[in-house]
Amino acid sequence: MTDRYCVFGNPIGHSKSPAIHAAFAAQTGETLEYTAIEAPLDDFADAWRTFIVQGGRGANVTVPFKEEAYRLCDVLSSRARRAGAVNTLLLGKNGQSSDAKVYGDTTDGVGLVHDLKQHGVALEGRRILVLGAGGAVRGVLEPLLAASPTSLLVANRTAAKAEALAQDFADLGAIRGGGFEGVSGPFDLVINGTSASLAGDLPPLPDALFADGATAYDMMYGAEPTVFLRWAAARGARCLDGLGMLVAQAAESFFQWRGKRPETAPVLAELRRSL
Ligand code: ATR
Repeated sequence: MTDRYCVFGNPIGHSKSPAIHAAFAAQTGETLEYTAIEAPLDDFADAWRTFIVQGGRGANVTVPFKEEAYRLCDVLSSRARRAGAVNTLLLGKNGQSSDAKVYGDTTDGVGLVHDLKQHGVALEGRRILVLGAGGAVRGVLEPLLAASPTSLLVANRTAAKAEALAQDFADLGAIRGGGFEGVSGPFDLVINGTSASLAGDLPPLPDALFADGATAYDMMYGAEPTVFLRWAAARGARCLDGLGMLVAQAAESFFQWRGKRPETAPVLAELRRSL
């Protein structure tokens, strides 16, 4: 039976993951099948069990199932435990079928850090501002702090959530949390992890936010730059969207399943053309 993988979500019709993993498989010479599966909102665990019976070896998990995926794992990576969420499921360590345990990881944060590196954005010794304090931000803080920034400020509409989040990660580095009103630049890197872009909204930010040569990164992406990236470009920042993060987190999942690390740049370029 061909090894099967999938992405679970609801809704899932728009997912780019099948195209990304098909490109990775072709590039690395791996034989596998990767599909998108819409799991029922009330029974994700059953959808996963059914998938395993049908030859499933691993899966990506997206909205709204990342916390449920976390709960069904037998073994969690330390970054998944920190994130409280899982975006990568693996049946058996390194895909060994003799091991029936379910392993869970979150590759979003390493995907973000990898994408920043690919684009030549340094993190070590830099001042970083992260906007938002929801699940998306929680999932990226550990790898960001591991890259040794001088400071990392988490700013959120609801200040208390940012403060609590910063507390949860305080043992890993110089992290603080607060509301938008306390934000004052300059920062070398500003990452938008709010879902404000979805509604075309912009968090209230001071004009003097960016240091010389600073980068603005939106974890969202689209055919057109987000409101945040347009605002940042007008203030001189270099702008990157989250499409690279999407491809890089997929590459890390692929590596965990197949032991081969695909090249992300050609896949990202193709995806960009198709937007
Ligand atoms: P996700 O999984 O995408 O992180 P989430 O956990 O619901 O989703 O978090 C959404 C984040 O976007 C939160 O930080 C939210 O701010 P609050 O904690 O104050 O709700 C932020 N957000 C959503 N809409 C926003 C808006 N219009 N302006 C600013 N922040 C917004």
